[in-house]
Amino acid sequence: QGSRPGLFTRPDRISLWHEQTTRYASELRELKQQMVSQLETLDKEKEALRMNLDGVGTRVDRVERELDYLETQNGAQPCVDVDDKLIEQQVTLVKEKQKAKYSKLSDCSDMISSIKAMKILKRVGGPKGVWSKDTGRGSGKVYIFNGTDDDTIHEFSSVQDFARSLGLSLAKTVKLPSAWKGTGHVVYNNHAYYINQVDEITVVKYDMKNHSVTDSAVFPVQDHVPVYSLTPETVMDLAVDEEGLWAIYSTRQNDRHISLAKMDANSLDIEQMWDTNCPRENAEAAFIICGTLYVVYNTKQPGRSHVQCVFDVNDMVTNEEAPQVYFPKRYGAHSSLKYNPQEQLLYAWDDGYQILYKLIMKKKLEI
Ligand SMILES: *[C@@H]1O[C@H](CO)[C@@H](O)[C@H](O)[C@H]1NC(C)=O
Ligand SMILES: *[C@@H]1O[C@H](CO)[C@@H](O)[C@H](O)[C@H]1NC(C)=O
Repeated sequence: QGSRPGLFTRPDRISLWHEQTTRYASELRELKQQMVSQLETLDKEKEALRMNLDGVGTRVDRVERELDYLETQNGAQPCVDVDDKLIEQQVTLVKEKQKAKYSKLSDCSDMISSIKAMKILKRVGGPKGVWSKDTGRGSGKVYIFNGTDDDTIHEFSSVQDFARSLGLSLAKTVKLPSAWKGTGHVVYNNHAYYINQVDEITVVKYDMKNHSVTDSAVFPVQDHVPVYSLTPETVMDLAVDEEGLWAIYSTRQNDRHISLAKMDANSLDIEQMWDTNCPRENAEAAFIICGTLYVVYNTKQPGRSHVQCVFDVNDMVTNEEAPQVYFPKRYGAHSSLKYNPQEQLLYAWDDGYQILYKLIMKKKLEI
């Protein structure tokens, strides 16, 4: 159950790994450029298809008129039948092509537009903590991580059970083999991912079904500093979005700003890393939706938490075009904000209150 060392703890490994990252990044950029030009082609095709459809429509009209005419004339049907079938085929083809286009575009491209509603479910536990539903599909279970340095998770079979439980009385407790540090944990597909810190920052993956550590890995970055200045217990934060697992962290080298890493939820390997332009100063929490990091600040003016910096790994959302998202007035500060991609809800822990924020989304790119 001990930690296995990260793949890249020695300096030469780190530089090798940096090279690889740079290569992956440029391959990704190329892929993105290809995608953009494909999208343009698809747009042109769509235009052509629409004209085609209009044409088909006119021909259907004409055939119907001809049909009328033929019927009144008791004329021969066969030749019209053939024409009819041909048009049916064309209509099916057009529809299929359009379906293909929409399925391509249905890839994750949501961005937050505003907060529609908030719901205060309960107040259990201390001022800081995390609560979250399993962010994967199907489980529905709810987990309470009370405090910033503990090893006991409280598990509820549903949000309803949590809401009607007297305190934590309806919960099953799960004792982890080591304590979590901070508020950087998530539960994803029946696994808890939490940060353990002795000398180095370790990500531990714990199987909630058979209660064993599946894997653990030292995060291959040195000189960590707390990622949000207003939640100093959290040295590293984990998040799940539509694309999987992410780590949000900060290092002394880039110490005024937040960095981001995409992780493989299965192997805990790091796929790519980014230094963002989002400052740590006055940040209380952050979350990720469709590859866009939203950092929430509390600056006392106007006295409410709000998203003030975004960073999109796909370069589709910039700070200038990001919406101003304000959280409704609340109690203290968010010690954690966990996004659930299945429900598009934020699970927030605010001075011991467990709060749900319902989000309104829009598309990053209106095509
Ligand atoms: C939650 O944690 C706080 C410390 O942060 C502790 O005082 C409190 O007793 C805990 N509550 C429960 C219900 O475990
Ligand atoms: C727990 O289950 C996982 C698969 O879900 C398996 O790989 C692992 O070996 C199991 N561990 C124990 C201790 O049974």
